[in-house]
Amino acid sequence: MSILQAVNINRSFKSGNTVVNVLKGVSLSTERGKFNVLMGPSGSGKTTLLNILGALDKPDSGSVIFDGIDITRLSESKRDALRRQKLGFVFQSVALVSNMNAFENVDFALRISKYKGRERKKRAEECLEFVGLKKRLKHYPGEMSGGEQQRVAIARAIAHKPMLLLADEPTAELDTNTGLRVVKLFKDLAIKENITVIMCTHDPCIMDVADKIYTLEDGVIYSA
Ligand SMILES: Nc1ncnc2c1ncn2[C@@H]1O[C@H](COP(=O)(O)OP(=O)(O)OP(=O)(O)O)[C@@H](O)[C@H]1O
Ligand SMILES: [Mg+2]
Repeated sequence: MSILQAVNINRSFKSGNTVVNVLKGVSLSTERGKFNVLMGPSGSGKTTLLNILGALDKPDSGSVIFDGIDITRLSESKRDALRRQKLGFVFQSVALVSNMNAFENVDFALRISKYKGRERKKRAEECLEFVGLKKRLKHYPGEMSGGEQQRVAIARAIAHKPMLLLADEPTAELDTNTGLRVVKLFKDLAIKENITVIMCTHDPCIMDVADKIYTLEDGVIYSA
């Protein structure tokens, strides 16, 4: 059964007198525990599509069925709750809270989840361990490398056990090896935690790891 299905998504933006048709009937479907990669040239609409799949933006037409519900038709408060409970986000530039250490950054995000007290502490530590940062719990963002910070951001994004993780060029600011580590982490997440991952990237070395590769070009999507 598919966990996420986008059907005939159209999205255009108006800028002055011109209208840019970014997504022109995009459809895709993915199952639980799959690692999907979204590629395409700069400006092709990858972020636009990710925002729509993650209930951060609405399409002009088309539907997004997530876990059996068309999320484009939900109220803002329901979309907000859905994002908090079932979705996780990782962005290109890491947005950690600078005066909180690694553990506190993850623990803080968990405050709006079902994890309480000791369970919350345990889950935050478990996620940091999963991303290989067991020895960096007390480090502040300014005391960690770019790759380490991105891994804290990933730990934070998965701590509440989302069903779907959306990652927008999470490796763009990392060197090749660190980027590869992050990618392998996503693959691991998909397999071990049964999380569906959709990741945008320009990185061609992703080919071997992805379960499915989508390419956006001229407003339409191709899959391989
Ligand atoms: N809010 C907006 N208003 C007007 N135009 C927008 C808006 N958001 C995106 N666009 C336009 O839509 C197109 C797609 O943008 P998008 O950010 O989705 O591309 P992308 O594939 O993520 O590119 P990149 O690889 O550079 O991140 C661009 O031409 C952009 O200018
Ligand atoms: Mg983008």
